[in-house]
Amino acid sequence: MFIFWFSFASILLIFLLHSLVKFFNPNPRKLPLPPGSLGWPYIGETFQLYSQDPNVFFASKQLRYGSIFKTHILGCPCVMISSPEAAKFVLVTKANLFKPTFPASKERMLGKQAIFFHQGDYHAKLRKLVLRAFMPESIKNIVGDIESLAVDSLNSLEGRLINTFQEMKTYAFNVALLSILGKDEVLYREDLKKCYYILEKGYNSMPINLPGTLFHKSMKARQGLAQILAKILSKRRQMKLQHNDLLGSFMGDKEDLTDQQIADNIIGVIFAARDTTASVLTWILKYLGENQSVLQAVTVRIPLSQFNYLDFLYLQSGDLENDCSWLLVLASQEEQESIRQSKEKFLRWEDTKKMPMTSRVIQETLRVASILSFTFREAVEDVEYEGYLIPKGWKVLPLFRNIHHNPEIFPGPEKFDPSRFEVKALIIIFLAEIFVV
Ligand code: HEM
Ligand SMILES: *[C@@H]1O[C@H](CO)[C@@H](O)[C@H](O)[C@H]1NC(C)=O
Repeated sequence: MFIFWFSFASILLIFLLHSLVKFFNPNPRKLPLPPGSLGWPYIGETFQLYSQDPNVFFASKQLRYGSIFKTHILGCPCVMISSPEAAKFVLVTKANLFKPTFPASKERMLGKQAIFFHQGDYHAKLRKLVLRAFMPESIKNIVGDIESLAVDSLNSLEGRLINTFQEMKTYAFNVALLSILGKDEVLYREDLKKCYYILEKGYNSMPINLPGTLFHKSMKARQGLAQILAKILSKRRQMKLQHNDLLGSFMGDKEDLTDQQIADNIIGVIFAARDTTASVLTWILKYLGENQSVLQAVTVRIPLSQFNYLDFLYLQSGDLENDCSWLLVLASQEEQESIRQSKEKFLRWEDTKKMPMTSRVIQETLRVASILSFTFREAVEDVEYEGYLIPKGWKVLPLFRNIHHNPEIFPGPEKFDPSRFEVKALIIIFLAEIFVV
């Protein structure tokens, strides 16, 4: 009897001890957390981040702790990663272990069904549909129309003092609509633009949905956008025509997307495409303005009066020089020559492939400006990376800018030097391309 009682008590004790150990050490394999400091309870290192340039904050952390480190900002414990390999691990190879996280207000505004908020099969399907509409095969057909939009924009700038970013946003919006809705829907362009601009104004406002607030106006504008899209959808269904723009891709019979899913993703892609492209175009102008030798290498000057569709353009000199009667054509003399020889009335896809120098300027601008400094995810379970533990529920931030500005990968990282992209190998590390192209 005593023996029975004794063994029972021992088992209970062992069980209790085991639970206790587990309670205090949920990580039985004792993987360490990444290096770094979590700062004060709750507020963590939020002040340090907000009281200095965030790029300096991240860069000094990286210098001290290496390419993976922990911190605590805005109430969340985070792991920051700043090596290409780690970014690939989180965003591509082990994407299933890290889910996207956005504030609920952003989801409501862009639409819950939009690609950014999802993982798994639905995400993969949307990704396929978006890529299909932006593959060279599909884009090919609208290169000439994009050229016309660019020419119209430039003509509209003549003699005006402009805010470059604003003009680039208008241009990028028009190109986005063209690639999403094709040529037929110019009718709706102004209405869509009106709604979208209101939506955008409230995007970063306090999410209080009461009459009169910016957020409320944005939410209404969002409904407006959805209504216009519903009109376009029903028209297309009546006409029963095949379109190979993004809307056509979403509407495919096989895809089986609901109208709401289509609307959320159309709005989402406008959102993803417009400001990014407009920022990059604006930075290109700035960097070219600051480096005359690169500017000369990629431009040919043609008096506006002699401009015709045989020449093509991307940018205008308004901000760089006061003389608006010159167009800057973003292709070197040789690039221009080889294009001109083959060129018909409009610019063609093949022509854009003959502009290596121009491509390097774009790549280098994407690198130096790194317009999206980082993104974030949340670990859905405990994850091991390079011997460290990334605990379930922690945020994980791939720091694109730190990767693009790492002097070991890009010597003299602050310098705008397109010639560094003459070396092919470097392009692999260039992140934005992995996701977008
Ligand atoms: C040059 C400007 C652009 C830059 C720097 C850029 C950058 C990025 C980055 C870093 C992401 C990943 C975000 C994340 O997963 O957390 C992303 C996602 C995305 N971008 Fe862009 N982007 C640009 C232009 C565009 C354009 C023109 C489109 C139009 C098709 C677009 C559509 C998307 C979409 C649909 C996603 C979500 C992809 C997914 O969740 O799988 N982006 N972009
Ligand atoms: C301009 O760019 C060229 C080529 O990329 C580079 O060699 C040169 O040092 C740059 N000049 C300045 C002032 O940054």
